[in-house]
Amino acid sequence: MSIFPEGFLWGGAVAANQVEGAYREGGKGLTTVDLLPIGADRFSIMQGNIDTLEPVAGAYYPSHEAIDFYHSYKEDIALFAEMGFKALRVSIAWARIFPHGDDEQPNEEGLQFYDDLFDELLKYEIEPVVTMAHFDVPVHLVQKYGSWQNRALVSFFENYARTIFTRYKDKVKYWMTFNEINMLLHLPFVGAGLVFREGDDKKQIQYQAAHHQLVASALAVKLCHKIIPGAKIGCMLAAGTTYPYSPNPADYLEAMDRDRDSFFFIDVQARGAYPGYAKRFFKDNDIVIEMEPGDEEILRHTVDYIGFSYYASRTTSTDPEVLGKTTAGNVFGSVENPYLPKSEWGWTIDPTGFRITANQLYDRYQKPLFVVENGLGAVDTVNEEGKVEDSYRIDYLQKHLEQMREAIEDGVEILGYTSWGPIDLVSASTGEMKKRYGYIYVDKDNDGNGSLKRVKKSSFHWYKKVIKTNGGSL
Ligand code: BG6
Repeated sequence: MSIFPEGFLWGGAVAANQVEGAYREGGKGLTTVDLLPIGADRFSIMQGNIDTLEPVAGAYYPSHEAIDFYHSYKEDIALFAEMGFKALRVSIAWARIFPHGDDEQPNEEGLQFYDDLFDELLKYEIEPVVTMAHFDVPVHLVQKYGSWQNRALVSFFENYARTIFTRYKDKVKYWMTFNEINMLLHLPFVGAGLVFREGDDKKQIQYQAAHHQLVASALAVKLCHKIIPGAKIGCMLAAGTTYPYSPNPADYLEAMDRDRDSFFFIDVQARGAYPGYAKRFFKDNDIVIEMEPGDEEILRHTVDYIGFSYYASRTTSTDPEVLGKTTAGNVFGSVENPYLPKSEWGWTIDPTGFRITANQLYDRYQKPLFVVENGLGAVDTVNEEGKVEDSYRIDYLQKHLEQMREAIEDGVEILGYTSWGPIDLVSASTGEMKKRYGYIYVDKDNDGNGSLKRVKKSSFHWYKKVIKTNGGSL
């Protein structure tokens, strides 16, 4: 018997820039992610070090074609429907709707594309779950205004929000404002289009941009509730609990502080005010947030649910020797945890951490959770029979879903689970195609070669059964 609630939203999650391609078609403007090449410079650019705000000749930009979902979405959605998806999380590319970000009128072709996409989902009774900003700022806003460090972006985003809520009010009931809003602190160009020059006070700029995004997010919540009564709008956190490496209280405090770097955003979005520890942090670091009269009131428009991604837990320490042994983990570096295995990309694999994270978030906010990303990035190979046997992915997902079930038994309210990249897509951190998450294989490699043909992997059939039994087969 399944303990998953009836109507549980099983499905998958993608982002416009990682699947659509067609980066200049349909009137779309250039976005920040279109400037991320594959290769050595990528990570530095993602941190805000970029000289030219246009594609450089000779470089390869994976987002420009991605997996061509812009043209193949009908076939791809049919495959999701075959798996029995109840929900698909997609994002709207802001620059398809407002190519420059500050245009007076929206681009009808862009609006129509998402109308068609949502219609196709609804045809199969798949609920669209829509992220308003998933790592893509219109480049013009970076050039002209310095992106989110400028207050002007709040009203551009508000205009964008009003436009899409009004247009899709009869089609979309689940919304999310900024994807992994806490990424702004780790990859500022990705999270907020921030570019730094020598001598910049980076922390000050990042937190001022964060304030603008938090105000914009709260305004979107307010508008959504007004324009689409009954809709639910959430925030989105790159989650993953931080363990202290040892029982030394100093390590515990360090772990608490690292978690608070992230909780800071959600505390504002879910509780409606800046937490006390943030005020102390600003004071200790000489950060002064410029607020406009009325901002505190705007922030009181809190989200309906907490959307989050979970890939890995993190571990921290105050011991310099321990700190020397680090591993990757969804961009959040972590000390190696001796109890846990790692993926091929060095991300810690910790299903129990998933249960802990869900409980922690629910204890803290007492709002429904929505798991909007989880999955294993791995190298897949097509065998001689043309099949992809991804038992390692099934194993990862099975263990994580068992822990999600435990969390539900713990009393945590969860609206749904959309695993990351149900179809192979471009990796956000590395730009690779080789790092695959899908139930559906896409024939394309890191250099852009391949037929783009889709192949069902073993995990396709496994997930189909999970959904059919509403988690009973786990
Ligand atoms: C999250 C992002 O950080 O993790 C996704 O919201 C991203 O956009 C996902 O793709 C997995 O990360 P990566 O780097 O393996 O693609």
